[in-house]
Amino acid sequence: MVVSGGCNSESLCSKHVTMLMAIIMSFGAISCCLGHGRDDHDDHHGAEGRGCIESERRALLAIRSDMYDYGESLSSWIGEDCCSWRGVACDNATGHVIKLDLHHPYPYDLVDEGFCAASEIMGVSKLNPALHDLTHLKYLDLSMNNFSGSHIPRMIASLVHLEYLNLSNAMFGGLIPPQLGNLSNLHYLDLGGCRHSDPRADDLDWLSRIPSLKYVDMSFVNLSKATNWLHQVNSIPSLKVLHLRMANLPYVPSPLPPFNITSIVKLDISGYPNFEHNNSKMVLSC
Ligand SMILES: *[C@@H]1O[C@H](CO)[C@@H](O)[C@H](O)[C@H]1NC(C)=O
Ligand SMILES: *[C@@H]1O[C@H](CO)[C@@H](O)[C@H](O)[C@H]1NC(C)=O
Ligand SMILES: *[C@@H]1O[C@H](CO)[C@@H](O)[C@H](O)[C@H]1NC(C)=O
Ligand SMILES: *[C@@H]1O[C@H](CO)[C@@H](O)[C@H](O)[C@H]1NC(C)=O
Ligand SMILES: *[C@@H]1O[C@H](CO)[C@@H](O)[C@H](O)[C@H]1NC(C)=O
Ligand SMILES: *[C@@H]1O[C@H](CO)[C@@H](O)[C@H](O)[C@H]1NC(C)=O
Repeated sequence: MVVSGGCNSESLCSKHVTMLMAIIMSFGAISCCLGHGRDDHDDHHGAEGRGCIESERRALLAIRSDMYDYGESLSSWIGEDCCSWRGVACDNATGHVIKLDLHHPYPYDLVDEGFCAASEIMGVSKLNPALHDLTHLKYLDLSMNNFSGSHIPRMIASLVHLEYLNLSNAMFGGLIPPQLGNLSNLHYLDLGGCRHSDPRADDLDWLSRIPSLKYVDMSFVNLSKATNWLHQVNSIPSLKVLHLRMANLPYVPSPLPPFNITSIVKLDISGYPNFEHNNSKMVLSC
């Protein structure tokens, strides 16, 4: 079911629009408009000839050694200047690595109901602890790799400069570490997945501690124990895009709180065909 509210691409959700969304048998998706993601990010390239910081170059090589190498992509990682390696970018003033994009180039095909089929069998990758040494990272993309059900390493939470973190469809499993709530500069958090990995979060309190969040995707994350999810996402004022498709969201009993996330432009809580409660209403005041 798709419910569209009184938003358009010109005015988005104007402060004076009040939307009433009835959740009848299923949650709906409100889709006003959308502008997000990778394209918003400038690519910072390393200063020409500056080379890179040797300890960070070693860290990158250690990280590479634990990633499934699908052939051509990481073979450019040779030479002294790691800032020129594919998927790597450095701050041109300090030389520190600020971007690491290791997303797998072969996309999954989304088949019905959220099951994904990889276009090839992917070998297993591990996240080398040397990632911890890239302390200036602002952008980290590990999406589309096969971490084969391993937990998201807590160590990622120490990368406090991260503004973009994409672990989607990377086959991470288990409990999402609440320490990610320490990433107080994060704008984009993509943990969306496919059905056959089973990450879960038992609470979203950590998420509500990240005030800068604009984009969150936790589709297919098992949130069945996160009973307070609505209140928790409702306290992230900067949120523009929220995907919680097929996330086993627990029922929110009435009365629902006033909708507080006034900058929201896309809310996707679709995919609850067997939702049994049919008398709840969500009030959106934006
Ligand atoms: C995360 O990565 C996936 C797959 O590479 C991509 O489709 C998605 O748009 C990315 N998310 C964001 C917020 O950029
Ligand atoms: C870094 O790059 C930006 C944009 O390319 C440029 O404006 C700036 O002057 C550069 N800074 C240094 C220190 O080279
Ligand atoms: C990921 O690795 C596991 C373990 O080797 C394997 O069973 C699974 O098929 C792989 N997934 C993909 C999508 O290749
Ligand atoms: C990270 O978060 C945990 C709780 O989730 C907290 O105990 C810890 O002190 C935080 N670490 C830092 C460096 O802020
Ligand atoms: C979600 O997690 C709960 C317990 O945390 C478990 O009982 C349930 O089977 C899980 N649902 C799915 C679809 O994996
Ligand atoms: C609404 O957002 C403010 C912060 O902007 C927060 O203090 C308040 O608790 C939120 N209300 C609800 C119902 O979440």
